[in-house]
Amino acid sequence: MSHHDERTFVMAKPDAVQRGLVGEIITRLEDRGLKLAGAKFMQIDEDLAGEHYAEHTEKPFFDDLVAFITSGPVMAMVWEGADATRQVRQMMGATDPAEAAPGTIRGDYGLDLSQNIIHGSDHEDPGANEREIELFFDDEELLEYERSDEPWVYEDVGDH
Ligand code: RTP
Ligand code: MG
Repeated sequence: MSHHDERTFVMAKPDAVQRGLVGEIITRLEDRGLKLAGAKFMQIDEDLAGEHYAEHTEKPFFDDLVAFITSGPVMAMVWEGADATRQVRQMMGATDPAEAAPGTIRGDYGLDLSQNIIHGSDHEDPGANEREIELFFDDEELLEYERSDEPWVYEDVGDH
């Protein structure tokens, strides 16, 4: 493992799928230099939603959150790169799109707290990334490969 092998769980939520924003989300992460390690187009059932959002079980918005996240297909993904968990969170912007900075994914595409386009593992919750990846993916569904531009993204990788 090198410093740029950190993996994080990312999901284009049902609103992103319905609004045709999956490609845009993937493009932004790809353009940043992050590497796609796995992807699954799927519909989340109530059990999985409850496990994924277990930290929110007691919150007043929990039932609405589960109803939304199970309401249609999502694109579940694993992205890899240096400091990937924190970097993806920065690219997502604040939880409430109304407060998210322009230039962030939520700040550019959302207006509603519930329908906020994208999920990314919380970098302030150590182990959340690995936990969420395990919840959604089997080991063999995650691929290891070199992206040909890695030497141009990371100074310490190989020859140009
Ligand atoms: P996510 O887990 O979905 O990536 O979002 P997040 O970390 O930015 O925010 P989190 O605190 O984990 O909340 C999960 C989702 O619940 C909805 N929410 N509603 N009504 C409310 O006060 C409220 N607070 C949060 C949001 O849709 C958020 O994405
Ligand atoms: Mg969260």
